[in-house]
Amino acid sequence: MHIPVLFKESIDVLSIKKNGVYIDGTLGGASHAAAIAEHLGPDGTLIGFDLDSNAITRAEEKLKTFPCKKILVRENFRKLDQVLLENNIEQVDGIFLDLGWSSFQIADPDRGFSFQVDGPLHMTLKDNPTDEDITAWDIVNTWDENVIADMLYAYADETASRKIARTIVAERKRKPINTTFDLVAVIESVLPRKAWMRTNPATKTFQALRIATNDEYGAVKEVLVKGFAALKPGGRFAIITFHSGEDRIVKNFFRDQAHADLATLITKKPIKPTDEEVKENVRARSAQLRVLEKISQ
Ligand SMILES: C[S@@+](CC[C@H](N)C(=O)[O-])C[C@H]1O[C@@H](n2cnc3c(N)ncnc32)[C@H](O)[C@@H]1O
Repeated sequence: MHIPVLFKESIDVLSIKKNGVYIDGTLGGASHAAAIAEHLGPDGTLIGFDLDSNAITRAEEKLKTFPCKKILVRENFRKLDQVLLENNIEQVDGIFLDLGWSSFQIADPDRGFSFQVDGPLHMTLKDNPTDEDITAWDIVNTWDENVIADMLYAYADETASRKIARTIVAERKRKPINTTFDLVAVIESVLPRKAWMRTNPATKTFQALRIATNDEYGAVKEVLVKGFAALKPGGRFAIITFHSGEDRIVKNFFRDQAHADLATLITKKPIKPTDEEVKENVRARSAQLRVLEKISQ
């Protein structure tokens, strides 16, 4: 089941104006998008992004009864400036991002996101990657050992990064690592079962691979700059992150805008889910919501 994270909190902090223009950069199951649309009247606009066409289809269905104007695009949110230009929109009142994957994506074995089910090593947020898009298979089977090790350390703080990278390269010389379970077997051979703590040893490698496959940090850095430029004075940027590397990028960017007197931090400390929310939805465990408001000139 798909349960939206920090649902009420993120809608409240957007302070949605009835006739405003709002971006949901990560439609997913469109629960947040529907809550934004619910606050908009017929003169309001909701612009929704997702790389996954299934999310666009879900959003079209879920949003159809709301009177606001809807612009739903199957595009990376890093192309925000281009999409605004194509739609003759200069500025927006608010931007919301709920980063990472959706529970629909992780539940689908064909997408290769989960180490708990066997599937091809895709891990692309796009549901129909082309030959130009890199997949987790490409990384695991073709990248240089040192680059794989650095990626595992940088994107997931994997302390066994060198050992895992060395074993991946040794294994792929024997035969390609084709599936999620092939990769899990490699990781398990490096990190013996007795070393496992509460989390599966594949957790960090899968997280790092997903981030690298989709250039998630690059996309966040780009949307922060482009999104902030597109915000009206008084407009708000609200972002939910799920791990420390991603959160650091958002925190530093928000802090820099505040230090330059261009914005006010609405959240000095990130908003975190309550214990009840975490009990109901384990995905909320690591969620953090940060909010910035552009200063009125
Ligand atoms: C956590 S889910 C969003 C859940 C959503 N807030 C809801 O109410 O259901 C993240 C979604 O964002 C999409 N996504 C992640 N990064 C993206 C990017 N750079 N551009 C466009 N979509 C992205 C994913 O495909 C996924 O569907």
